[in-house]
Amino acid sequence: MKNHRSEYNLKKPEDLYKFRSSILSWYRFHKRELPWRKSPSLYKTVVSEFMLQQTRVVTVIPYFENWIRNYPDFLSLAKASEDEVLKSWEGLGYYSRARNLHNLAKIVSSWKKVPDSMEAWKALPGVGPYIAAAVTSIAFQKVEAVCDGNVVRVLTRIFSITEKFKDGATAQKKLQTTAQSLIDQDHPGDFNQAMMELGAIQCFRQSPICLTCPVLNFCTSGQAGAAEQFPKLEKKKKKKKSIHRYWIESDKGLLLFSNPRSKKRLSGIYELPESMPSSMESKKEAEKILLTKKRTIGNVDYLEKIIEISNYAENEIELECGYRWASRKEINKLTLSGPHRKWIQEILD
Ligand code: ADE
Repeated sequence: MKNHRSEYNLKKPEDLYKFRSSILSWYRFHKRELPWRKSPSLYKTVVSEFMLQQTRVVTVIPYFENWIRNYPDFLSLAKASEDEVLKSWEGLGYYSRARNLHNLAKIVSSWKKVPDSMEAWKALPGVGPYIAAAVTSIAFQKVEAVCDGNVVRVLTRIFSITEKFKDGATAQKKLQTTAQSLIDQDHPGDFNQAMMELGAIQCFRQSPICLTCPVLNFCTSGQAGAAEQFPKLEKKKKKKKSIHRYWIESDKGLLLFSNPRSKKRLSGIYELPESMPSSMESKKEAEKILLTKKRTIGNVDYLEKIIEISNYAENEIELECGYRWASRKEINKLTLSGPHRKWIQEILD
């Protein structure tokens, strides 16, 4: 893979040395006080990196704190039930992360000695190149560079990389070698965190604060006042999708649906159903739109309408696999998808 550094700036060893020491001292002084940085441990690093994949730091903080209270180490997590674990993850989304972390805890807590190599970590559930590099560099000081979205922004700006990447994931893969060529050999964990932190609190996507940037001296686009022009990513056409959800109540509560355990997506996570049990279809009568919500997931703009169906006899309805009635008390105990809990609350209030 191409290393962009060789074609651009930061070629001289003394520049590279200055770059590393500038970003490291900046990080030590300016880093945010985050709960996983307080008395750090391998377990805290793993949990935080799983949570931070696809989710913003501000969202993660309360979940992380609650998680560490409930499951302070790999063993306590390994011993918890899957339902409990999913409930603790409720609202963070991408629930396969919770299942993978749970399975990982079962494996790691059974080991006598925890391995410190990228290869061993990559073989664990839910651990790709990013988490493997983050964990082994932060917890074991392995010289393994991370290249996430924040790092892509920092790198493409430092080197004014004009290549147009298909998407963020492609850019992360293509810039991995460049990130690896910059990493500080003596402080790889802090260096990785410093690059991500710079992207998060200084090198913003819009209006980056170049004037006080610790590596402005080495940043070609920053010096040209052109940082915002990078990274260059192909614009994707957004898709639009319209979805109907049903609000059906009986004396047994509200009708909810969850995918069976065999399905990967959202299994064990309850939602308002997208279709009615077939025994209801012929009986449905009045329809009323209770709520209309817009949300974007990935590349798709969803318009979701929650439609109330009324006037039917509950005991005539046969619930197929995946459906259940839930009283208000039960709704609180079940794991619901985050947006669905909010919508249900909004309708019930
Ligand atoms: N984003 C994901 N992991 C991070 C970390 N360890 N430091 C800063 N930002 C991050």
